[in-house]
Order: sequence, then structure tokens, then C-alpha cells
Amino acid sequence: ISCGVVIVAAGRGERAGAPEEGPKQYRLIGGRPVICHTLEAFATWAVEASRKLVFVVVIHPDDEALFEKARQLLSPGLDLTVVHGGSTRQLSVLAGLRALSLRAPSHVMIQDAARPFVDNALLERCHDALSVGHDAVLPAIAVADTLKRAGADGLVSETVPRTGLFGAQTPQCFRFASILPAHEEAARSARTDFTDDASIAEWAGMPVTLVEGSPDNFKLTTKRDIAMADQILNRTAL
Ligand code: CTP
Ligand code: MG
Repeated sequence: ISCGVVIVAAGRGERAGAPEEGPKQYRLIGGRPVICHTLEAFATWAVEASRKLVFVVVIHPDDEALFEKARQLLSPGLDLTVVHGGSTRQLSVLAGLRALSLRAPSHVMIQDAARPFVDNALLERCHDALSVGHDAVLPAIAVADTLKRAGADGLVSETVPRTGLFGAQTPQCFRFASILPAHEEAARSARTDFTDDASIAEWAGMPVTLVEGSPDNFKLTTKRDIAMADQILNRTAL
């Protein structure tokens, strides 16, 4: 199989606060922008597993300079195309898939720029699942906490059994010829609010296969997540 990688980095990071510090994917952790760690994780895996990867990075039009600066810090020779994203994550992914279609990969891995701790083992699990013929692959981790539903009154209305419940991560991986039409169809149907790509696959009737995610592979959402990521990298650098 041949893999393209779409890295979505066009969000504004509203939940991370501190807009004066810029979008979270360009903030420094371990001395480098978040997005550099994310891209290098894939690049490292490609080298170690001797796989050729084609990258499409989806950025916000306002972030051209920020991305160029980050790009200077990447190892040279990456096959990388940059395109502009849309107003929702779903539309940004679609822009990335359309750009990638010019390169005709058999499969695509769709990754949040805001998940810098994706590692070789996880990428290998995803790749293995694609290789054996699964068309849609979702890394996920079993929910650990007891789940409660709350009513509008702020009181617990029920306890939701957590058996069979998982938290979805990225990279979500697909047969390219299946996911691009599903995304196009979703956009045509005026649904632009799918928060991940597996839900588009489900909506299109594709079976989605779970592989084990990684607790390290958390998404940087809040300011605290970014501080924690920085601490992790500075600690492991010692
Ligand atoms: N993303 C994107 N285009 C958008 C929205 C999100 O490419 N219109 C990307 C983000 O850059 C991020 C990933 O999708 O890498 C996951 O989204 P999320 O964590 O929600 O990031 P933001 O949308 O930027 O943050 P927030 O929801 O807090 O505003
Ligand atoms: Mg968002």
C-alpha cells in the first residue's frame, strides 16, 4: 500500500485561550512548534519502516508565515504540499484529501496537527490494519472513568455503562478511494460538522475497525495540555 498523510492544522485553537500566543499548533513544546513534532513523528516512522510518505499539510491562510518558520526546522527532503483549510475540521480534511488525490495514494492517514505524541508503534498498528485489507481504521482507547449524563438542572440523570465505549484518536486511516467520495458526499449533503473522519465513514456505511490507541497520543486542547506536553518533552530530554 502507498500512504498519504493529511495533517490538519487550520484550526484557531479557541479552547487553548491566549490568542496573543498564536494558534496552538505553532506554540513551542520542547523548544519546537507542536506541528514539527507531529510531522517528525511520521517522518521518523517512514524512515524506520522504510515507507515513503506523501504529506499534505492543511493550514489557515493567516498562518503562512508561522508555517514557513516551522518548516525550516523540519528535516529536509519531506515530500510536503501545503493547502488552505476551511471553517470546520471536516472542510479542512476535505481540502487536504482533494490535494492528495493528485498524488493518487492507495491509502491516507488523517492526523490532527495538535497530536504531537503519535509514535512508531501506533503508526505500525494502523498500517498493519490497512495492509490486511481494512478500509477504515480508528485508533482508540477504552474509556476508563465512570460516565454520567447530566440534565439541564446540573443533576446526574443517569450513569452510562462504559462497556464498549472508546475515545477516538488520530491518525484515522482509510482506503483513499473510499474516504474521498464519502467526504465529498458529506459536504454535498451540507453536513460540515463531523468532528472526526471515522464518523463520516460510519455515515457512509463503511465498517470502521478499531486498533489500540495510545494514552500518550492525547490531543493538545487546553493551555494546560500544552504546558503538560512541554513538560513531557523537557523531562525526556534530560
Ligand atoms: N482543524 C482544522 N481546521 C479547522 C478546525 C480544526 O484544520 N477549521 C484542525 C486543528 O488545527 C487541529 C485538529 O483539527 O489540529 C483538531 O481540532 P481541534 O483540537 O478542535 O483544534 P481547534 O479547532 O483549532 O481548537 P478549538 O476547537 O479549541 O478552537
Ligand atoms: Mg475545534
